Amino acid sequence: MINTWTLYQAETCVVWSRFASFIEVGGRTGLGFRDTSQDVMSVVHTNPNKCRQRIVELLRAQVSSGYGLHLFDPDWFDEEKRKGPTFKSPTIAHAPELRSVIHGIEHVCSDDALWIVVTCCEYVKETGDVAFFDEVIPFADEGEGTVYEHLKRSLDFSAEHVGRDGICLGLRADWNDCLNLGGGESAMVSFMHHWALRAFVEAAEFLEQKGDAKRYNALADKVKAACEKQLWDGAWYLRGFTAKGLKVGSAECDEGKIFLESNSWAVLSDVASPERGAQCMDAVDEHLYSKYGIHLAWPAFSKPNDDIGFIGRVYKGVKENAAIFSHPNPWAIIAECKLGRGERAMKFYDSMLPAKQNEMIEVREAEPYSYCQFIMGQDHTAFGRARHPWLTGSAGWNYTAVTRWILGVRLSFDGLIVDPCIPGDWKEFSVKRRWRGATYAITVKNPMGVEKGVVSVTLNGDAVDGVVRAQAGGTVNEVVVVMG
Ligand code: NOJ
Repeated sequence: MINTWTLYQAETCVVWSRFASFIEVGGRTGLGFRDTSQDVMSVVHTNPNKCRQRIVELLRAQVSSGYGLHLFDPDWFDEEKRKGPTFKSPTIAHAPELRSVIHGIEHVCSDDALWIVVTCCEYVKETGDVAFFDEVIPFADEGEGTVYEHLKRSLDFSAEHVGRDGICLGLRADWNDCLNLGGGESAMVSFMHHWALRAFVEAAEFLEQKGDAKRYNALADKVKAACEKQLWDGAWYLRGFTAKGLKVGSAECDEGKIFLESNSWAVLSDVASPERGAQCMDAVDEHLYSKYGIHLAWPAFSKPNDDIGFIGRVYKGVKENAAIFSHPNPWAIIAECKLGRGERAMKFYDSMLPAKQNEMIEVREAEPYSYCQFIMGQDHTAFGRARHPWLTGSAGWNYTAVTRWILGVRLSFDGLIVDPCIPGDWKEFSVKRRWRGATYAITVKNPMGVEKGVVSVTLNGDAVDGVVRAQAGGTVNEVVVVMG
């Protein structure tokens, strides 16, 4: 699944975004800013040229005040293509309000521009194309800036659009299209802001931009403190606040008491303390987990509530209204890996793995090799039925969760890191990773039966300090990692 189907599905998403979806029946033309940013970061190693093209298109669709155009046709920014005989002006049938090419703040999704920060960092770590940060790219509305400047604008936009307690505004929506908190606040976006800030600080340090590293690090500290102060609900993290100041995703709520995406992001973003992180992910396991994967929320909403958004108008157990929404499931896997709980990470991975659902295909009703956008949740009569295969961010994120977090092979600006988080009964595994033209034949040994922790790393027989530096192109290098 990982080496073939999930990778293939992830790459397909980079090529098609969501606009060739059979489900969307051609009603959506163009790239989704958030979807494409996320898809790209998962496959920078297998298709760097296509990823670079997509990144440039995305940055071209960022306005000078920092937000990303939610849905856009990249050809619009290419003068030749725009003037060509085949170009049609952008039409977005299901969202006519987005028809004007440069939309205003009222249609901004508060998460969109944050994803691209990490995407650019991952691209540079993978390719070593450090000069990319200096490439000048125009903004969608006016002016231009280096890639590095574009990233700062994304981070600054989120810092400037916060509510009274310092939590990011919800705006039109965040990752969850059906939570429309407007002037309310989104926990998920504040967690994401922290995640993007820390990634940017690593880049700024690597580029020796000391002033920026210091400034954005201080901002990250401030965001983290605001999150820990405002968003802890007692046993898990809130999902946000409505514009009237009411909690969303709290034990006090009648419906939508707990959400998957805010809790996994609390951990994934490194905001949650280890204690709170373990507690909130235990709550996810207790309230949201099922044999077909993890539900997005619990209990489902049964009535419309325009303060919260479209979510209450969706059938219970379908899509964002408490289905087993696939895309955030791997975020929970990554969160468990960050907590060092490899058994739980594998349990979550296995529950949704398409191939594992082959024996119940009459219930699943979808290909056993493609992730689907969602699986009907426990509140629906068709519990377990999967819908909308292929074009879903769950492909890239599952690929990321397995390769970078369970197997633990990931990159820093300094080199390759191997830091697995696995079930304790895995005695050994091996991974072949190609990076910047060299091959790394990695063997991980687990003699003590631990779930996380590395005691030694050797490169071609020599001990290294945990980071394997890039080796000459064409070489084959043996990396041995011992857990304990
Ligand atoms: C599908 C959209 O393409 C994606 O952008 C969004 O994050 C999810 N739905 C969840 O609402």
